Amino acid sequence: MSVQEWSADAATEIVRAHSGVRGALLPVLHALQERFGHLGPEATRLVAKELNLSRADVHGVVTFYSDFRTAPPGRTVIAVCRGEACQSCGSRELERHAQHSLGIGFGETTADGSVTLDQVFCLGNCALSPAVQIDGRLVGRVDADLFDRLVSDAAAR
Ligand code: FES
Repeated sequence: MSVQEWSADAATEIVRAHSGVRGALLPVLHALQERFGHLGPEATRLVAKELNLSRADVHGVVTFYSDFRTAPPGRTVIAVCRGEACQSCGSRELERHAQHSLGIGFGETTADGSVTLDQVFCLGNCALSPAVQIDGRLVGRVDADLFDRLVSDAAAR
């Protein structure tokens, strides 16, 4: 399902679909982010109200887990794997290159909104380390040149 504009009605439906589930907060937040691309203040407010939690509690969870975004992502999202297998195959250099070439750190989006750089700690593609995921597509054996090509191909789409 593609990312949609925020809708309080749709969000309420998602939250209520999890009502009665123990520990509903994390699944609700994941479902809302999947639908709306990020968890803005309106999502925090709605979740707090629907799950009878304080806004501070919800905000604390959203900001604690690096999986959650509080702002819309860039048009391309690229995640560099920083897991052990990838590190043993040179991902540290790739991490440095990714941050340097994009001019942003992990969890940030370029000023023009074109790319968000994320980090993950195993993409399940260890045999083809170092691995990245770009717009949901897994790519293995990524070096600096391939990283740059992936980013420029994504920009051209
Ligand atoms: S550690 Fe990178 S894919 Fe598993």
